[in-house]
Amino acid sequence: MKVLVATQKPFSPAAVAGIKEIVEGAGHVFSLLEKYPGAEELIAAAADADALIVRSDKVTAEVINAAPNLKIVVRAGAGFDNVDLEAATARNVVVMNTPGQNSNAVAELAIAMMIYMCRNQFTPATGCEVSGKKVGIQAFGNVGRLVGRKAEALGMSVMAIDPFIPAEKILEAGATPAASLEELYSSCDFVSVHIPATPQTIGSIGYDLITKMPKGACLVNTARKEVIDEEGLEKALEERPDLKYITDVMPGNYELLREKFGLRVFATPKKMGAQTAEANMNAGLAAARQIVDFFATGNTRFQVNAK
Ligand code: 3PG
Repeated sequence: MKVLVATQKPFSPAAVAGIKEIVEGAGHVFSLLEKYPGAEELIAAAADADALIVRSDKVTAEVINAAPNLKIVVRAGAGFDNVDLEAATARNVVVMNTPGQNSNAVAELAIAMMIYMCRNQFTPATGCEVSGKKVGIQAFGNVGRLVGRKAEALGMSVMAIDPFIPAEKILEAGATPAASLEELYSSCDFVSVHIPATPQTIGSIGYDLITKMPKGACLVNTARKEVIDEEGLEKALEERPDLKYITDVMPGNYELLREKFGLRVFATPKKMGAQTAEANMNAGLAAARQIVDFFATGNTRFQVNAK
């Protein structure tokens, strides 16, 4: 079987070598497409692939339908909003993710972003400490729970909400459950967003929620650009000169936000939550192992599309 690793944002060379070793060790053919300019190159490279490993690369219906041998796509990471699940199911292609494999990297970045904003983006003005502050975690999955543990270790108190996790489980994990999003936003100095981009969540964080935040609060988004209502964010920052926003998923109106609000906003040039050697290794190798296992035994444990 031909396993294509297609990554516009490449894995580290060590992770690529590890993936190659697993794929070839199981008797499959390894192929690599990195830093490709657009969909055309992906479509051409995937034409004879049996399996595909991607990161945030867009696996559209066009890509899937142009790859007649394709049997499995593994998104080496958590969010799979970049894969057309319906098109995959229609073609009987299994789609998987590698949950938890890059969570620590994202959680560390979320904490770093809180400190960066407390310290005025490392400019000399007097900043603040995260210790003693309260963080609200929106979605208490693999990343959210790790953010909670790290925040607690830094002396922060932790509140969390997750529509799929009962309040008892949140309490057991050492966080205070919030009864509603309004409660989370109105009582936390930081809100760290960890929700996926779905039809229900897209554009769901906007003016109403953001302006509920207490004085001096900061919204931290290491999830997806699409979950923020960008006009609502702009309006909230306009009306509330004390609020801040930091993200590694750059808003469409970033230049405007930066121009208007200066050091109160910050976005990394590229999505970088999972961009560590460790996360590349964990997610990349997990993806390779899942594919090898799928071909050997039919294991679909991490399948995310309908069968
Ligand atoms: C994820 O969903 O796992 C993260 O957003 C990481 O995405 P990336 O692999 O494109 O860095």
